[in-house]
Amino acid sequence: ITPESFAAKILAFYQTHGRKDLPWQKNPTAYRVWVSEVMLQQTQVKTVIPYYQKFMRSFPTIKALANAPLDDVLHHWQGLGYYSRARNLHQCAQKVMTEFNGRFPKTLAQMESLPGIGRSTAGAILSLAMNRPTPILDGNVKRVLARVFMVDGWYGQSAVNKHLWDLTSRYTPQENTANFNQAMMDLGASFCSRSKPQCEQCPLAIDCLAYIHGKTAEYPHKKPK
Ligand code: ADE
Repeated sequence: ITPESFAAKILAFYQTHGRKDLPWQKNPTAYRVWVSEVMLQQTQVKTVIPYYQKFMRSFPTIKALANAPLDDVLHHWQGLGYYSRARNLHQCAQKVMTEFNGRFPKTLAQMESLPGIGRSTAGAILSLAMNRPTPILDGNVKRVLARVFMVDGWYGQSAVNKHLWDLTSRYTPQENTANFNQAMMDLGASFCSRSKPQCEQCPLAIDCLAYIHGKTAEYPHKKPK
């Protein structure tokens, strides 16, 4: 499949099935998208929504978050788990205040220098909030790509991760990147789910090597025992 055809199919899926009214999609500033992405790193959308709304009411700006006591921030995390995420968020807000004059940085390298922000989270902020054509590679996107291209090996291997980054870089369009990235995450969270993929409904079924070979259950490969 060509990148053009891939993007066209994903963007059509966005129109019919993509999520368009998540709270962080309203007024998608870097701050709002960043907080949502950190919450979504290990937690599902429907669990995140009420936490996100309460968090934004209490800490409406990066400055409010930086000035809040850590205990307050941790309290808002109660029930989400992986508390290092909340600690990083707080520390990151303070770094943005001191090192970037209170303005969220605008380059991939600067973002990746911040605690808790990896390449994919930075890509999500750049594409979803800043309209920059930057690829992402979260768990959902990895699964879609691993199946469509039958990527062998486990993600934990750096060569496999690199291959997946090469694929997402090649297939992410320069235009409509925000909708494309959102749609890839939504496809991975819906029809291309891990245990019960609904390939009959998938816009990429006829292009998907795993589907064509009857091997969707084998991709992505699991961590070797
Ligand atoms: N998982 C990570 N980021 C997400 C987003 N923006 N929408 C839905 N699921 C996500």
